[in-house]
Amino acid sequence: MWLYLVALVGLWTLLRLIRERKVVSHLQDKHVFITGCDSGFGNLLARQLDRRGMRVLAACLTEKGAEELRNKTSDRLETVILDVTKTESIVAATQWVKERVGNRGLWGLVNNAGICVPLGPIEWMNKEDFAKILDVNLLGMIEVTLSMLPLVRKARGRVVNVSSAVGRVSFSGCGYSISKYGVEAFSDSLRRELSYFGVKVAIIEPGAFKTALNSVGRLSSSIKMLWDRASSEVKEVYGEEFMLYYLRIVTSLVETCSEDLTLVTDCMEHALTSCHPRTRYSAGWDAKLLYLPMSYLPTFLSDAFFYWSSAKPAQAL
Ligand SMILES: NC(=O)c1ccc[n+]([C@@H]2O[C@H](COP(=O)([O-])OP(=O)(O)OC[C@H]3O[C@@H](n4cnc5c(N)ncnc54)[C@H](OP(=O)(O)O)[C@@H]3O)[C@@H](O)[C@H]2O)c1
Repeated sequence: MWLYLVALVGLWTLLRLIRERKVVSHLQDKHVFITGCDSGFGNLLARQLDRRGMRVLAACLTEKGAEELRNKTSDRLETVILDVTKTESIVAATQWVKERVGNRGLWGLVNNAGICVPLGPIEWMNKEDFAKILDVNLLGMIEVTLSMLPLVRKARGRVVNVSSAVGRVSFSGCGYSISKYGVEAFSDSLRRELSYFGVKVAIIEPGAFKTALNSVGRLSSSIKMLWDRASSEVKEVYGEEFMLYYLRIVTSLVETCSEDLTLVTDCMEHALTSCHPRTRYSAGWDAKLLYLPMSYLPTFLSDAFFYWSSAKPAQAL
């Protein structure tokens, strides 16, 4: 009985792998637009797809980032400046893309741009801190998608949205997890609605990777800024010890991050080039073995895990 079950699971896995290996044809004629290409996953994906012969339209936040990327890639790759929080910037980038893709439409839209600071406990934040992250990670993604959608629909193409493992299980108070939960919800609805037009939507859920986003410098200066401006009541309730411990935890978490960004960009590339992309891609061992299983645990168990493994405020009961 068990032998049959193991054989069945083995056969199903094998068939799935074979099915997923089938690649779409004429990759050289397909345009892919990627946001946030100055650094990290976006930058690596742009170079990876360029090497593969695809027509990469890379959106960078800064001219410096765009120039550096152009210097590392073929003449096929083109860059544009895009700030996903600015409507006029999105409108201009969409027009720029339209002129390049013509009647073929846009095969791939990769919503990758993102930020993760301010980072800290909820009580240290104000509304603007949440809005800052939501503006880039969620509203920016939504507005870029709405603007580019007619072009993607024309090509019966792909939308690849970069979420996070913390879009499945939330434990850091700031707007980051909230924005990524929003990305998950937006992408699920989008996938269902666009299936009628032959457009496929994939969600990438990376664990923790070493990039500019979560550099120790960026995170620790954000935590210190929040602490410095906190009210005297908050400082008393939490205590400086808590802040220092929080800083140490964040720093040591960053130090254990994976440096192999291809684990993420290979998932993005698969979502764009496979005839049968997955709906969700978990990238990194922590995403697969820790965050994903934890997201399926009963809430009281995950709550207990975080309660016992986190720093405690000075006046905790
Ligand atoms: N690294 C991780 O551990 C991790 C884990 C899960 C998910 N992710 C997600 O992966 C995506 C890429 O992040 P990454 O790790 O590769 O970090 P990254 O190197 O910082 O890349 C993010 C890019 O987005 C750009 N960006 C920031 N604000 C923007 C805006 N308003 N408009 C357009 N572009 C903007 C950044 O430019 P500047 O550098 O100039 O700000 C940067 O080039 C993000 O959505 C992030 O949430 C990352």
